[in-house]
Amino acid sequence: MKTTRLAPGSASASKSSQACNAGNSLPGRETPDEPTLTPPLKWAGGKRWLVPYLRPIWEQHSHRRYVEPFCGGLAAALGLMPARALLNDVNPHLINFYRQVPRGLAVNIKMRNEEGTFYGHRSRFNQLIKLGAFQTAEAAQLFYYLNRTCFNGLCRFNQSGEFNVPFGSYQRINYAGDFGQYGPVFGHWSFTNSDLELLQIEPEDFIYADPPYDVEFTSYSAGGFSWEDQVRTAERLAAHSGPVVLSNQATTRIIKLYEQLGFGLSYLEAPRRISCTGDRSTASEVLALKL
Ligand SMILES: C[S@@+](CC[C@H](N)C(=O)[O-])C[C@H]1O[C@@H](n2cnc3c(N)ncnc32)[C@H](O)[C@@H]1O
Repeated sequence: MKTTRLAPGSASASKSSQACNAGNSLPGRETPDEPTLTPPLKWAGGKRWLVPYLRPIWEQHSHRRYVEPFCGGLAAALGLMPARALLNDVNPHLINFYRQVPRGLAVNIKMRNEEGTFYGHRSRFNQLIKLGAFQTAEAAQLFYYLNRTCFNGLCRFNQSGEFNVPFGSYQRINYAGDFGQYGPVFGHWSFTNSDLELLQIEPEDFIYADPPYDVEFTSYSAGGFSWEDQVRTAERLAAHSGPVVLSNQATTRIIKLYEQLGFGLSYLEAPRRISCTGDRSTASEVLALKL
């Protein structure tokens, strides 16, 4: 199997990687990125840093519909700006927020970086969840506020389904007054809230899949995403007839899984941005390609 190790934004890195195994070149960009919209939410595992590597691949397929089954904070989608996109995530609050934006989501609630306001808004958000009213503009505003103000922008729920991330105690937070600049973009994209297997993928679609990282050597499954979920994701992606790009942590078993399914592999050093432990060291990332 062809493999490549790259450094971000460096074409020469792909040359030096030829010692490790030539071929399957994945060009980084030497020119600065074009200005793009920044993701409106903080989201763990955002792939903004990967956009310079994804763009040259995407540019060859930009006539296709872009499908991201694990869209998270939209860092990749907003970096690539496809004209047509199907963006999916299992998190219903995230998808509700994206759906409310083109409907003219406005900020009416108090956006203040103080503990009392935070816990008041968190209680109201949890009340809306309990009432089944989480697909509303009010829930979207509260979700945005909690995302910016809570600890590390995390999104965690307890056994009863209540959002339970504590106050973040940041010095200063910038809150958007509205989301007008995102409206026309999100209005052209489709957002769904389902599992990969239920997604209505067309044979010609371009898929960029960025599932939760595989966590090897522990029974802990990141974000409830087990090893079985990694395997069924890989098999679903392998069965797709159009182009596929997958990113994940370069664990031994992920490498083996995608190699066995016939993907070409490239390696990158990923910055760790949001971590519960405060760990911001780099990690090895693998890109599995079937183009
Ligand atoms: C690494 S993040 C994606 C980040 C995204 N690529 C970005 O650039 O912002 C993985 C996402 O997968 C979602 N997820 C977890 N399990 C899922 C499932 N079974 N189906 C769909 N999405 C899932 C999580 O909610 C999370 O947002």
